[in-house]
Amino acid sequence: MTQHDKLITTVNVALNFKVGDQDVVAVKDATVSIPTGKITIIFGPSGSGKSSLLNMISGLQAPSKGSLKFNQEDLYGKTPNQLAYFRAHELGIVYQTNYWVKSLNVIENVSLPLYFQGNTKAQAHVKALAALERVEMLEFAKNNPSTFGWRTAKDCDGSSNSL
Ligand SMILES: Nc1ncnc2c1ncn2[C@@H]1O[C@H](COP(=O)(O)OP(=O)(O)OP(=O)(O)O)[C@@H](O)[C@H]1O
Ligand SMILES: [Mg+2]
Repeated sequence: MTQHDKLITTVNVALNFKVGDQDVVAVKDATVSIPTGKITIIFGPSGSGKSSLLNMISGLQAPSKGSLKFNQEDLYGKTPNQLAYFRAHELGIVYQTNYWVKSLNVIENVSLPLYFQGNTKAQAHVKALAALERVEMLEFAKNNPSTFGWRTAKDCDGSSNSL
């Protein structure tokens, strides 16, 4: 793999939390290469640090130590504003748990991140409609998220799989 094929690289990344007088090790010395244009799966038992690693990769949580590069750039060398721009424009996360804003309907929820990217209300609406159409959810545009009967991993195989 050449440098250019690597989207994300971490070297000896660790994440520790202080809980009371206890040190919790969420991630220990993770050295990971995630290539561009490929599907990469992070798997492991509950508590093994998958979400913690993802939080660091997505610019939400600075590692306690180690280096983390996105497109050859040191992610946590960015200013808070640059990191916010990165989260809004360069990386998207679809969570297993739904983080809908419950007071907004589906189209308003899908439009929300588009406002942060500088779209007007009308532009956001058009783009959100197109996105819903792509995933065959146009008919639910005006629904409130709470009206959905969500299928979860638990429904599918009886276990409570998570990210
Ligand atoms: N904010 C936090 N404060 C303290 N400890 C934390 C925090 N976040 C995670 N941990 C701990 O770090 C470890 C890794 O947690 P993490 O949520 O990353 O695991 P996971 O692999 O995503 O688990 P699951 O499959 O259950 O989602 C666990 O022991 C967890 O309790
Ligand atoms: Mg998790």
